[in-house]
Amino acid sequence: MPKMKVGLVGCGNIATDLCIAVKEGDIPAEIAAVTDIARGKAVVLLRTFDMDAAICSLDENAAAVDYLIECAAADAVKEVVEAAIKHGTDCLIVSVGGLVEDPELFVRAREADIALTIPSGAICGLDGIRAAQEAGLRSVTLTTRKPPKGLAGAPYLVEHSIDVDGLTEPRVVFEGTAAEAIKAFPKNVNVAATISLAGIGPDETRVQIIADPAATVNSHEIVVDGAFGRLRTVTENVPSPRNAKSSYLASLSACAELRDAATAFAARRTPGW
Ligand SMILES: NC(=O)c1ccc[n+]([C@@H]2O[C@H](COP(=O)([O-])OP(=O)(O)OC[C@H]3O[C@@H](n4cnc5c(N)ncnc54)[C@H](O)[C@@H]3O)[C@@H](O)[C@H]2O)c1
Repeated sequence: MPKMKVGLVGCGNIATDLCIAVKEGDIPAEIAAVTDIARGKAVVLLRTFDMDAAICSLDENAAAVDYLIECAAADAVKEVVEAAIKHGTDCLIVSVGGLVEDPELFVRAREADIALTIPSGAICGLDGIRAAQEAGLRSVTLTTRKPPKGLAGAPYLVEHSIDVDGLTEPRVVFEGTAAEAIKAFPKNVNVAATISLAGIGPDETRVQIIADPAATVNSHEIVVDGAFGRLRTVTENVPSPRNAKSSYLASLSACAELRDAATAFAARRTPGW
């Protein structure tokens, strides 16, 4: 089966999970090029997985592959999409927060006729939100519940002198729009951004964040009201085995997107499919 050439931008935890998925062998893809601002991370990734990929600039990466995966940082997103557009390369953007900051990138990708995809990340229910949006949504609310230590150090808590140490019962530490939540709790940026993009945008999407001393996992509850009726999803995430700060489901959603893209690529190039 023809293998799709994949370029990784960012060689950290999510890149590692993608390499594990590719190495398992049933995704028709090969990692052909990698880029990282810290070259040493790229070297370690290739060594860890005994891969023969090129370590190169973003521009060289986008030129050499069939599919570019950004798994670096929100501030890398614009240049990754621009490199993908320049070279006509489809791309997956994992740092979804970067797209909320620059929604024009979707329009430019569409005009350039490249696929710009985002993974569902650490939540479920995006299919329903997208479908419901067709008939108009009245409200979208995200409630994130985390153990207090998972929120410690967030800019909003520091600015408002909110101490979550020693809580004995759940405390709502933030209520506002997704746009405000993205700035106040940068570690939640991707979930709030993904829901906003699927639904009614960052200024209309409501976010509540709860520090819960009884919580053992990070959970995200989404409630959507609209002409279709009402939907409610709850996702309880365990941490990634390789990165306690990231939800395992987020990595798995990137792997699932890669599998879909590689399978479609192989089908297009296999006579008789
Ligand atoms: N969509 C989601 O639900 C979701 C969930 C978790 C993480 N993420 C995002 O995915 C991204 C990667 O997460 P991770 O856990 O693998 O992070 P990580 O810190 O483990 O790895 C990021 C890597 O990218 C590199 N990097 C940073 N800026 C870069 C740039 N401009 N160009 C090239 N390389 C760059 C770093 O040196 C590092 O090696 C982050 O932006 C994170 O917020 C998204």
